[in-house]
Amino acid sequence: MKSPSNLPAVKILPSLLAADPGHLAGACQAVQAAGADGLHLDIMDGHFVPNLSFGPDFVRMARTVAPDLYRHVHLMVTRPDELADAFMDAGAQTLLFHVEARAEIRPLIAHLRNRGVVPGLVLNPETPAEAVRPYLSDIDEVLLMTVHPGFGGQSFMKEVLPKIAEIHALAPGLPISVDGGVTLESATWCAAQGANYLIAGTALFRSPTMAGDIIAMRDACRAAYPKP
Ligand code: DX5
Ligand code: ZN
Repeated sequence: MKSPSNLPAVKILPSLLAADPGHLAGACQAVQAAGADGLHLDIMDGHFVPNLSFGPDFVRMARTVAPDLYRHVHLMVTRPDELADAFMDAGAQTLLFHVEARAEIRPLIAHLRNRGVVPGLVLNPETPAEAVRPYLSDIDEVLLMTVHPGFGGQSFMKEVLPKIAEIHALAPGLPISVDGGVTLESATWCAAQGANYLIAGTALFRSPTMAGDIIAMRDACRAAYPKP
């Protein structure tokens, strides 16, 4: 995951959950035009988390209106094994599911890979790094929740920072993403511990200068990322 200049491949992924629900297509196009590295789509089933959000048609919509924007799909659902195919059919390029969900983890990872989709696992704030350790060589990304999943606009949980460093030490080449309460400031704290994918909803969508904020976040995180 090192770029040619030996800098980490830092990616900034705006979360569509924070966009105006009346203008989601325009929001996808704005994220693409702002130079983001991809679009984060939060899928909630009203069971794993107490909220509902997007179904597969929203992923399909993003592919149609902003075809060059990478689709990074986060399943916050109790049965990811039952829903994964619908989201892959719709155009998910990375598909992440929770270790706390009810699914056979290895077979589902293998299924995603067989379908040409990048597999990743997600940990809730209280879930220890130990829970993902057996799967670190099977996946291409670990996402660490830095809020309780289900809603945008919450405050970043600083207590998750040591877990980033722990996973970075266990699997130094594995991309680590953080999701929840990510601002320019908290993104930099995360990058300093070894996170290189920064997912930000409210901070980027509430800003009138998304393109500039993406550049600032990417530059600050590259500078903060641990030197080899
Ligand atoms: C929370 C979601 C996040 C959310 C982040 O359950 O997984 O992706 O959109 O939103 P902010 O950046 O507003 O915390
Ligand atoms: Zn998310």
